[in-house]
Amino acid sequence: MEKADLLLKVDEKYYPPQEIVEQAWIKDYESLYKQSIEDREGFYSKIAEELEWFQKWDKVLEWNYPYAKWFINGKTNITYNCIDRHVKNGKRNKVAFISIDEEGNEKKVTYGELLDLVSRLANGLKSLGIKKGDRVSIYMPNTVEAAIAMLACARIGAIHSVVFAGFSEGALKIRIDDAKAKAVITATYTKRRGKKIPLFPTVKEAIKDLDFVEKVILWDRDNELSEEYEEHNVVDFYKLIKNSSKDCPPEIQDAEDPLFILYTSGTTGKPKGVLHTTGGYMVNTYMTSKYVFDLKENDIYWCTADVGWITGHSYIVYGPLANGVTSIMMEGVPVYPHPGIWWEYVEKYGVNVFYTAPTAIRMLMRFGDEIPAKYDLSSLKVLGSVGEPINPEAWLWYYKNIGRGKAVIVDTWWQTETGAHMITTVPSYPAKPGKAGKPMFGIEVAVVDKQGNPMPPNQVGHLVIKNPWPSMLRTCWGEPERYEKYWNEIPGYYSAGDLAAIDEEGYIMVVGRADDVLSVAGHRIGTAEVESAIVENHAVTEAAVIGKPNEIKGESIKAFVILKEGYQPSEELKERIKDTVREVLGPIAVPDEIEFVDKLPKTRSGKIMRRLLKARELGLEIGDTSTLEE
Ligand code: WTA
Repeated sequence: MEKADLLLKVDEKYYPPQEIVEQAWIKDYESLYKQSIEDREGFYSKIAEELEWFQKWDKVLEWNYPYAKWFINGKTNITYNCIDRHVKNGKRNKVAFISIDEEGNEKKVTYGELLDLVSRLANGLKSLGIKKGDRVSIYMPNTVEAAIAMLACARIGAIHSVVFAGFSEGALKIRIDDAKAKAVITATYTKRRGKKIPLFPTVKEAIKDLDFVEKVILWDRDNELSEEYEEHNVVDFYKLIKNSSKDCPPEIQDAEDPLFILYTSGTTGKPKGVLHTTGGYMVNTYMTSKYVFDLKENDIYWCTADVGWITGHSYIVYGPLANGVTSIMMEGVPVYPHPGIWWEYVEKYGVNVFYTAPTAIRMLMRFGDEIPAKYDLSSLKVLGSVGEPINPEAWLWYYKNIGRGKAVIVDTWWQTETGAHMITTVPSYPAKPGKAGKPMFGIEVAVVDKQGNPMPPNQVGHLVIKNPWPSMLRTCWGEPERYEKYWNEIPGYYSAGDLAAIDEEGYIMVVGRADDVLSVAGHRIGTAEVESAIVENHAVTEAAVIGKPNEIKGESIKAFVILKEGYQPSEELKERIKDTVREVLGPIAVPDEIEFVDKLPKTRSGKIMRRLLKARELGLEIGDTSTLEE
């Protein structure tokens, strides 16, 4: 565990500036934490009371291991709390989203306008026959239209399943098929580095054989595709909005009614459809946004994630809206049109809370300190990090060059499955670079061995959560056995699949995944998913994929490939295999390196020993090979 040893050396504490502590929501983390553990249900019910319910819950938690229900018989609608509640409270003209495209064009949408747009689209969806419980896939650029699409589904109780627009046809098809989506909401294209990346053609290909998809709702960005409409049962996104009534009372949702499915990578080739429900998810994304980012009424908030990932769901759409702040959404990449673009917008909009991934920080670091130095970043008070471990070097760069010592860093550990932050500091207590911090309110975590025995301080083991929490996944869509596995791996606990260590002061350092899941540029990718994409190339018979440490991306992908008889290894063939992965899964999953081999190490039961390949590749000790076949 060399990587861990290195990180454990960093133990310096960074104290928050006095002004931040003085006005923070949470001034005494320790006492509130203690209270939240002693009376978990009381704690969450107090938070839930800050939101509006059409009918109050009878009971906060029903726990039938490993199945939990929260806010039993509570009735609400998350869009009511995210939009109507603010409009009713005098914020009709407050900006909810500033959506910026790559050319810097901005679209401002107020809470009042958001209510109008979401209600109309919701009515539009109803008019197309979409009802409560139906699934709707969303394959959209990272613009306000994506948020509107999600909220319109939630308004009528339809279950959205957003698919990251960087995924290609194969990945999109599996997700639409698994959810049996009745409709797909998409756009003609998204933009990246000045180039249009077509989305609609990918949708058309993906749904070719999926006859349960009845409609495609298309945001025709340049009004250029009208002739396609009849042919493919396509409905125009903005026409549907325009032609539908703005009066759409929110569907009365039970707290446990499904809100969305979001597919994420596991250890097998098939992604898992993580299911989140309404009440608990709403309460926990609201609470964590408020306390971790210390959100205040007039804050300008910017999360640079994409709505296609859980961070976009919880911390672009639901959490910030539930708190009624103004959010920035940006389409595109952090270095286009220039590597200071993010800081330019922080200055322009006076961003107070900024939330991004370590990969982006490491990438921007490379361009030098002079770039952020050109901008006035004094509005920043909280800087967030998410998605992968942040190395102390990147942490310090973020702290000094972006926060300028005046902002705090919150390194938030959580997962698609957890729905909301689980481990992080809050702004009022000191952070340690490279360590996420302590558990959030209501959450008890431990680092244990495979049998569930606690590890001594500073020793790496498996990260587990010891209790149910409101925003926990309720199941994996159509695969309850995969859900149960989270709670059966180490009996009694939820296994996160991560390795971590806890120091003497209770700060938790998350080291990385314990399983065959990669984290490439903060994107969660399954080795088995990449392997099955590689074998779609007709020249390949078998493949094994490992992650290699990468200075910027965290991990890069290396594939070991066995060719079919009659195919000769060549550089050109490597490129063709990469093309296959790009077509099937998408650019984020393309291996950086391919090596042709004759054999792969396997266990006696025939499983590829990726651990062995990785150890060999990195020149590490191979460890226990007693199960190796040969
Ligand atoms: C990793 C993203 C270290 C971890 C919200 C986890 C992190 C996986 C952190 C979930 C962090 C996320 N420090 N590692 N602050 N945040 N991870 O589902 O391995 O896309 O299990 O959710 O990302 O990825 P997911």
